[in-house]
Amino acid sequence: MCGIIGYIGNKSSAPIIIEGLKKLEYRGYDSAGLAVIHDSKISILKYKGKVSELKERLGKQTLLGSVGIGHTRWATHGKPSQSNSHPHSNCSGKIVVVHNGIIENFIELKAELLKQGCKFKSETDTEVIVHLIGKYYSKDLGIVPAVRKALKELKGSYALGVLCIDEPEKIVAVRQDSPLIIGVGKKENFIVSDVSGILEHTKRVIYLDDGQIAVVRKDDIEISDITGNKVINKIDKVTHKAEHVTKGKFAHFMLKEIYEQPQILSKIISLYTKSKSTIDFSNCSLNKEFLLKVQNVIIVACGTSYHVGMVAKYALESFIRIPVSVDLGSEFRYRDPVISDNTLVISISQSGETADTLAAVREVKKRGVKVLSICNVLGSSLVRESDYVIPIQAGPEISVASTKAFTAQMIVLYLLGIYWGGIRGVLSKNYVKNAIEILRSIPEKQKEIFNDEKNIKFIAKRHLHFGAFLYLGRNINYPIALEGALKLKEISYIPTEGYASGEMKHGPIALIDEYRAVVCIANDSFIFDKMISNIQEILARKAKIIIIATKGKVQLKDYTKEIVFIPEIEETFSPLLTIIPLQLLAYHIAVLKGYDVDKPRNLAKSVTVE
Ligand code: AGP
Repeated sequence: MCGIIGYIGNKSSAPIIIEGLKKLEYRGYDSAGLAVIHDSKISILKYKGKVSELKERLGKQTLLGSVGIGHTRWATHGKPSQSNSHPHSNCSGKIVVVHNGIIENFIELKAELLKQGCKFKSETDTEVIVHLIGKYYSKDLGIVPAVRKALKELKGSYALGVLCIDEPEKIVAVRQDSPLIIGVGKKENFIVSDVSGILEHTKRVIYLDDGQIAVVRKDDIEISDITGNKVINKIDKVTHKAEHVTKGKFAHFMLKEIYEQPQILSKIISLYTKSKSTIDFSNCSLNKEFLLKVQNVIIVACGTSYHVGMVAKYALESFIRIPVSVDLGSEFRYRDPVISDNTLVISISQSGETADTLAAVREVKKRGVKVLSICNVLGSSLVRESDYVIPIQAGPEISVASTKAFTAQMIVLYLLGIYWGGIRGVLSKNYVKNAIEILRSIPEKQKEIFNDEKNIKFIAKRHLHFGAFLYLGRNINYPIALEGALKLKEISYIPTEGYASGEMKHGPIALIDEYRAVVCIANDSFIFDKMISNIQEILARKAKIIIIATKGKVQLKDYTKEIVFIPEIEETFSPLLTIIPLQLLAYHIAVLKGYDVDKPRNLAKSVTVE
């Protein structure tokens, strides 16, 4: 996903923009650029490649100027190239724009602008924005009214930063379905796609809402809505610290975030429990009376968050005994779902900006259905558009491959289910107390698995050369097979499928041969023997087997030496442990293959476009 940063103040803007772009690199990108205004001249520097290359080139030609905008581009329209990189300028060169989002009617707009004599230099949708603004702009009219006029013709999603040579004392910022935040400094201000880009300068931020235009000067911020009415947005304070956004002693953010899970889960448990036997969501906007009326739950999410939703289906249904279904946001938004009365939609999203999840939520809101969001980013669109929110408080997740957010979202849903089952009278006080006890034991049990990392690394080394993997799991660990497979494929690029092991005979067994590695999640379970039969069928076809098993199941060593043991745990809660070896296995295979673990090819940290 693209990243935007802008600075206006008394310091030189270029170095601040470059450092900010580095902090936004984790979002995924293929090119970077910036534009600054100095002495009534706009200078643009942009390249296909890394921010570090941009920094190097900047070293050769200092860009002076205390107002500037920068951008990391994740290609949607037009291949990664210098000409397609942002910022884009209009024909006169007086106006430059950076953009995050997609202009859905750019083809017709471009055709019109070409007819009117505009010269395009790129294949991007973004370039129509700057030419449209240029078309309306005149010194008499001014840049803000020109932007407003252009916006009226745009369809789609856009976060914009705009500079105009004749009005160098301002940055114009616009937000529509793509996040944009204003950083409020002292005699300096910023615009940014997410706060991690400016944390070292300020923690005071203003989250722009859809349809809002901000005129950002170094000592003043004026926000108005699409019709031009002035609005006052409150200034929020960002809670997490700048150091959250560094790797510390770890080689990659992904490994750091895997290791952060025990402390984060401990924090979440203490956040949402009042005592050893009481779960407390009173500081969330969760309404107990409302929950008691709910008769049906639909979970919508994408990617890893969808896998959390699948685990939650098993857990919630066992705790609250009402039907829970799980939908991919991208499917739900277009299938005109039948939603019965007293339905609660639960959306799960780390970023709170995933376009498909947001669209699904907007669809149900239109029908008057209440939405509870489980999210990691407080200022996100999803949080602001939901009726109820339970923040997961996992701190910024930088690595594109989601790990700590996965278990953080999961434990919040376990807590919600146990709380809900308790108030519905399905779960006894004693069960609630025991369940809380089990959750409290998870962090230490995760740490025990970390002690086996060396073994996991050896297993990774021995399976590096396999051209394809199959992950199998049953019951509440079927989603973990899917998540483990997603982790491996998205950072190692090895074709990997996750499957319900009961489905093996319905097709996947045809894949099994000596060239295939099969990961079996064979934790203690009431259907453990079924997994053993799967293992025997797989071995009979000479595939290599890796087993995730519960400590003590030494008989599994008869099948393979590639075993990672997890501590004993009640099956319902086992996904919080079975996922750990799979996160580490994917990590080590990708590192051994020499890939960019934190920024895998073609992926973005938050998919804010369809
Ligand atoms: C998971 O490792 C991926 N990064 C991706 O599938 C991600 O989970 C998905 O895009 C959903 O993101 P969200 O949780 O921010 O909505």
